[in-house]
Amino acid sequence: MDSKSSIGIFDSGIGGLAVVNTISRMLKHESIVYVADSKNFPYGTKTKNQIIQFSERITRFLLKKDVKAIIVACNTVSSIAMPLLKEISYPVPVFGMIQSGAILAVKTTKNKKVGVISTTLTAASHAYKKEIQKLDDSIEVFEIGSQRMVNLVENGNKTRERAYELVKGKLQNVISAKIDTLVLGCTHFPFLDKVVKSVVGKDIKVVDPADELVLKLEKFLKANSLINKSLSVNTRTFFTTGMTEEFLIKAKLFLDIFPKEVHKLDV
Ligand code: DGL
Repeated sequence: MDSKSSIGIFDSGIGGLAVVNTISRMLKHESIVYVADSKNFPYGTKTKNQIIQFSERITRFLLKKDVKAIIVACNTVSSIAMPLLKEISYPVPVFGMIQSGAILAVKTTKNKKVGVISTTLTAASHAYKKEIQKLDDSIEVFEIGSQRMVNLVENGNKTRERAYELVKGKLQNVISAKIDTLVLGCTHFPFLDKVVKSVVGKDIKVVDPADELVLKLEKFLKANSLINKSLSVNTRTFFTTGMTEEFLIKAKLFLDIFPKEVHKLDV
């Protein structure tokens, strides 16, 4: 492992591509190996054991790909399996989404009322509430889960009318609770951020945990002399456990830089 090694990233589907976009913007020269576990999408309706099993398998696969860090670009895995993944001593650090989202929420809120929109499983785990209140126990946290919003994005709808109605219905209660900060607690949701922002209005700040996470990643890479300074070697390799053609079509819709090909992965 050295500075030219890649950043390994995984999600249940295309949600983690939002994290890929953030890395490409903030750490331009880093190579990426991405795994979409599309065969097992959605994670938000799976059991804890299934999620642990999926994420362990993918983590093991990524470790064979010469990665210098792994990003669990899935809040559901981060909230359900992260404590276990942290216990296993992997040779590279494994970063989850929740702590970064919590830090960002605490930094952003002024009135100490924070909403988190996520998968139903993340909401039920109260991972965000626990993490935010660990940092500041005077913050009230309102958690809402929506698998329909996840499906909408995974099916390639970014800004449709239907999305507006759905998001509006889901966020009604937290808007009434007078939150001033909303965390996009599912990596699929930054792709709905225009819709979300138009629903909540400009008095509520919408934050994406990936922004904080990539800063944390950068700090780790710098501290360990692992920043890729070479201008020519950054590559992006995509794997899916589902249908490669389908993933390529979606990736072209959601990625800032289009992938040339997608490999099939059986894990
Ligand atoms: N994008 C994922 C997350 O952040 C998972 C969505 C799903 O598969 O249900 O939670």
